[in-house]
Parts: sequence; C-alpha cells; structure tokens
Amino acid sequence: MYVKNTKEILDKANKDYYGVGAFNINNLEFLQAIIEAAVEKMSPVIVETSEGAMSYAGNGDFRRGARVLAGMVMEFAEDAPVPVALHLDHGHDIEHAMAAIQAGYSSVMIDASAKPYEENVKITAEIVRFAHAANTSVEAELGKLVGIEDNVSVSERDATLVDPDEAKNFVERTGVDFLAPAIGTSHGAFKFKGEAKLDFDRLKKVKQITKMPLVLHGASSVLPRYVKEANDYGAKIEGAKGVPYDILKESVKYGINKINTDTDLRVAFLAELRKALHDDASQIDPRKLFKPGMNAIKEVVMERIDVLGSAGKC
Ligand code: G3H
Ligand code: 13P
Ligand code: ZN
Repeated sequence: MYVKNTKEILDKANKDYYGVGAFNINNLEFLQAIIEAAVEKMSPVIVETSEGAMSYAGNGDFRRGARVLAGMVMEFAEDAPVPVALHLDHGHDIEHAMAAIQAGYSSVMIDASAKPYEENVKITAEIVRFAHAANTSVEAELGKLVGIEDNVSVSERDATLVDPDEAKNFVERTGVDFLAPAIGTSHGAFKFKGEAKLDFDRLKKVKQITKMPLVLHGASSVLPRYVKEANDYGAKIEGAKGVPYDILKESVKYGINKINTDTDLRVAFLAELRKALHDDASQIDPRKLFKPGMNAIKEVVMERIDVLGSAGKC
C-alpha cells in the first residue's frame, strides 16, 4: 500500500528501535526490484529520488519527472502488501520540494546543511509549513557528510559533524519530523581510508535530546563481492569501502531509523550488467540484460532488511 506520510512508517520504527531502508531509484528496474524484496521480507520500505532522478525521469523537466516517478511508485505500491513511501532525497530548494509535494510524495528532505545555520533554519521552517499543510513530512540535515579520519582534531570534528545542542534548537525552531545528523558517513563508494568508524557518542546525544526518527545518509556497505565482480568485468573501482553491517546494526541500536542506500544498488546492478554483457554478447534485448542486475538489487535490499530489523514489521 502507498503510504501518504512517511511519518507513519518512521514513528513506528522509532518506537520499536528498528531501521527502515530508504533506497534511491531513477527508473522502473530499480523500483520493481526494491518492492519485490520488501514484499518477500514483509517489510516497510521507503523509495527515494534525488533532484537528479526527477530531472532524469522528466527528460530535463523535474516537475514532470516527479509526476512520472510518483505515478510509477504509487502504481507498484498499490497492491503491494507492505507500506511503501516515496521521499525526496536531498532537496535543495523550495521549487523541488513543492514539485515533490504536489506530485504526492510522502516526505521531502530539505538539505540546507551547507548554508549558514540561521539560513538552514529559515528555509527548513518554510518547507515544513508547506509540507505539513499537505500532510507530508520533512527531513533535514545537520553537519557535513564527510568521512572522519583518525587524525582529525576535536575542533575539526566539531566543525564538521552534528552539534547535539544545535540539533535541539533546530528541531524546536523548524518543526522538522526527521533529522539526519552527520556522524562520519559520506556518499559514494569511498567512505573510509582506514577503519570504518562513526561517532556514536554524538548519535546517542542527538537521540536523547530529540527523541525523533533519525536518518543515516551515506549508509551503503559497498559489498566486496559486487565490487570484485564489477572489477572482474572491466570496472575500475579501487579502494572502495562502505559501512559494514555490524556498524549499521549499532547505528540502529543507538537510534537511526531511516537508512539511505544508493551506491550498493548501483554497484550490484552494474556488476551484473557488465557480466551479462560479457557472457551473452549476442543479446540485444536490454530487458534480458537488465534482469540479473534487478535480481542482485533484490538480494541486496533483502539482506539490508535483515540487518536493519524491519522484516515482518508491517
Ligand atoms: O545522496 C545522493 C544519492 O546517491 C543520489 O545521487 O544525485 O546522483 O541521483 P544523484
Ligand atoms: P550511499 O552513497 O552510501 O548509498 O548513500 C546514499 C544516500 O545517502 C542518499 O541520500
Ligand atoms: Zn544522502
């Protein structure tokens, strides 16, 4: 079933201390695989699209793209026996947020974390007003998404990662529904130079202060088996490293409820596509070439549902 407001999914996860996967899509193939995985595990799921995905799906017109993607998600969610929400990932301005809200998205993220604090508060509060009027929830981010190295000084850490006291002030002044605190993850396939490590003390403080559903961005695990397969079939992905499953589990234990994943799906799909192109060189039907990649996405999503503890939580 399509969930009108992502809060319905995340408030439950917050209360019962489990995580729900939020998976990025740009197209039909990723969506079908994600929903199949959620149904097989009887797990709630959040599908999310970036501004780039909206533009891509609308052939350059992000408003049209929002409608195309929302139509597709609602169609596949309708008869799925699990809750499916649609979320705008990293919205940067009111235009994209409004396009998503008008297309019927279940929640929007406003990411003004690169702006000065007062501006972040102002733009987030403004979007919360519009979104709440449409029964849509809002996620915002505090701190910068960068991997934290061991040799980084305390003051550098403070300047980069979420400030728990600021989180309290931010939530009170904006009315935001979910918060993404920067605790040391980053986007993409190269998250850590050394050992994977997150700032759990900061996470615990933010949870204690806000008590709200929290979001982990840059949460892909960058699975070695798919990185290897991609490289075996011609990719050049050297030194890739993600967030291991035990760290994801710990994050959930300390209060993370929405776990954003894009890179893992991209790597798995492309590894299998490279293999299919190699193994079946005479194949000219893209649908047949995409199928192994879709199966790999389904497998990755099912594995993450088990790690996050959302199986059976419908
Ligand atoms: O956080 C970013 C997501 O991975 C989406 O990336 O802007 O390339 O669609 P994108
Ligand atoms: P990954 O690059 O780790 O998949 O992160 C995705 C994300 O945070 C989307 O907002
Ligand atoms: Zn992100």
